[in-house]
Amino acid sequence: IDELVTEGVAGKRVFVRADLNVPLAGDTITDDGRIRAAVPTILKLADAGARVVVASHLGRPKGAPEARFSLAPVARRLGELLAGTGGGAVTFAADTVGDSAKATVAALGDGEVTLLENLRFNPGETSKDDAERAAFADELAALADAYVGDGFGAVHRKHASVYDLPRRLPHAAGGLVATEVGVLKQLTDDVKRPYAVVLGGAKVSDKLAVIEQLLEKADRILIGGGMAYTFLRAQGHDVGDSLLQEDQIPAVRGYLERAKERGVEFVLPVDVVAADAFPDLATKAPAHPVTVAADAIPAQRMGLDIGPESQKLYAAKLADAATVFWNGPMGVFEHPDFAGGTRAVAQALTDSPAFTVVGGGDSAAAVRTLGFADDAFGHISTGGGASLEYLEGKTLPGLAALED
Ligand code: 3PG
Repeated sequence: IDELVTEGVAGKRVFVRADLNVPLAGDTITDDGRIRAAVPTILKLADAGARVVVASHLGRPKGAPEARFSLAPVARRLGELLAGTGGGAVTFAADTVGDSAKATVAALGDGEVTLLENLRFNPGETSKDDAERAAFADELAALADAYVGDGFGAVHRKHASVYDLPRRLPHAAGGLVATEVGVLKQLTDDVKRPYAVVLGGAKVSDKLAVIEQLLEKADRILIGGGMAYTFLRAQGHDVGDSLLQEDQIPAVRGYLERAKERGVEFVLPVDVVAADAFPDLATKAPAHPVTVAADAIPAQRMGLDIGPESQKLYAAKLADAATVFWNGPMGVFEHPDFAGGTRAVAQALTDSPAFTVVGGGDSAAAVRTLGFADDAFGHISTGGGASLEYLEGKTLPGLAALED
């Protein structure tokens, strides 16, 4: 982006593809981390006199407008954040390439910012059909003179605004994308050892490819969250009513074997916090949890967090690491009875002198919900799927398009 700014962007319409896909409760933003992360690039362009056209997706609408996925609350928050840093107001276009977008962009003065409505309200954005995506990218290209790719959280998507649009305009990577890629390089090309990885989240199937890669890179892999129960079952333990992906057991057994051969340490919970039903996250009513040994979860109980002994074990396994990557909560952290494991891992990371990276929307939201400050960690990534796919060694369409 610095080169683009040096070449001169004053008076030019610069399209910024951001990832402003934030969690909403009604129209209240519950974690504005992604909006804050988008501000520096937008400000840099506005300060240089560009007419900044910001665009993003939000949620997964099916190619047509849906009020609950509107970016209107995000435009308000972006306006507040820009105002707080000396920037001006943010106008909002009620569509992406229609009359409202055209008029709003035409009305932009130098240094002014507008946000378009959700890109995924147009079927061309996510289409698997190259021609349909190209047609939408052509319409978006007509709104701008240059393109800045700064939506790191979406660079793994082969979508019109991520993959096709940069090919139609002079383009550059934004500051956020550059920072995120720099951090991920430190986890792949140039990692300081011992390198510990903490993986959580519900499904082991979402993490198979990354585990595969990490078996080549990491020294230690700590497993928590819903996926831990498939690991425990693969070791022959009863997991009661806990979340289980039976079909993944052979793959998990294979990983445990390979880890042994390669000297990679797999760390599994030794105890878990269990209840007889999934807790009510709306009322947060007491769930009457019990702590049980991880190798003997009783029938009709489901493990919903790692237990206190596991918390100590995981903290100890992280204490001497030089690099830590963490993706996925350790339990149902949204309920106070099952937040202890996620809190303990967050605390271990903040206590550690290691280079610590928190990857992913859920993990980032979890640490902020639990009251940890962003600067307590080395880096909080704005990309969940994107950072995992980078670590899997995949070519990310949005990065490939920017490098072209
Ligand atoms: C994310 O939340 O990981 C990104 O915004 C991408 O969203 P998606 O998974 O709906 O493409």
